[in-house]
Amino acid sequence: MSSSELAKVARAMVAKGKGILAADESTGTIGKRFDSIAVENTEENRRAYRDMLFTTRGIGDYISGVILYDETLRQKSADGTPFSKLLTSQGVIPGIKVDSGAKDMALCAGETVTEGLDGLAKRCADYYKLGARFAKWRGVITIGDAIPSASCIGANAHALARYAAICQEQGLVPIVEPEVLMDGSHTIERCEEVTEWTLNAVFDSLYNQRVVLEHMVLKPSMVISAKSCPVQASPQEVAERTLAILKRTVPAAVPGIAFLSGGQSDELATEHLDLMNKLGGGPWALSFSYGRALQQSCLKAWRGAAANVPAAQAALAHRARMNGLAATGQYRSDLEKKAA
Ligand code: 13P
Repeated sequence: MSSSELAKVARAMVAKGKGILAADESTGTIGKRFDSIAVENTEENRRAYRDMLFTTRGIGDYISGVILYDETLRQKSADGTPFSKLLTSQGVIPGIKVDSGAKDMALCAGETVTEGLDGLAKRCADYYKLGARFAKWRGVITIGDAIPSASCIGANAHALARYAAICQEQGLVPIVEPEVLMDGSHTIERCEEVTEWTLNAVFDSLYNQRVVLEHMVLKPSMVISAKSCPVQASPQEVAERTLAILKRTVPAAVPGIAFLSGGQSDELATEHLDLMNKLGGGPWALSFSYGRALQQSCLKAWRGAAANVPAAQAALAHRARMNGLAATGQYRSDLEKKAA
């Protein structure tokens, strides 16, 4: 892929009013989601579930790209069409998760470093042939007593940058995802401090590894109170603090920022994104790359039954539309009630 094609794909991923559906749950993670609706974690059930997601009518109106898992990129729709082709035919770009997960980090208790660099260039070349045009790698930063450490932030930033360079060389646009977890009881101020530190380290590493900023998408977490923090910051405060930190740390050359939802409720994830865009956004597009916040209601409506597919697809289409509106600051919470 030429450099102008990488730029084109990166811009298309964050096109106005559109965002990314993260459907790249590993076999273990989708198993946890299926447990919650009492569906057995078989290859056919995983295929049927993803088939339902990707055949949702009008998915391309609000979804620019879908992140797939290795198995899914090789699977087909019920009529035999490969998923990558099915998505492309609807104007949706197929992407692929290429990391092999966050693993315990040596000598850093309670922290992880994401693995998967070995053989990555070859895997990226294979994924390109299978139709993928972008990739994802998630680094995880945990906040706790005396963590994160500089060792953990440095190792994750370095791995993210090495991954991004390899992807660009192989023709895939890298989604660079440094996630500061919401787990714990820390305050929004602590999250802000750690997010700023992490993003500075990531962009420093990206520069050192010669990553072209115009050819990537950043997928950060929001600056938010931890799940068990007794004082929960208001949506307006989350939006203001997140935007302020991104303006300090993310160069304007990056075409777009697509947030992860990280365990926020569906509607809060939408509201936060909307408020940031209502505040005027920044020099980059501000959009979404949600997993749970797009799929939760759909999964619950589906419960593994073919008869529930229309209701489940309606739930996904609704969340995609709400987030599409939030990506341009045009969301209104009364639109939720009308749909319910
Ligand atoms: P969530 O939106 O559920 O956090 O998932 C996004 C994702 O891709 C995590 O890597």
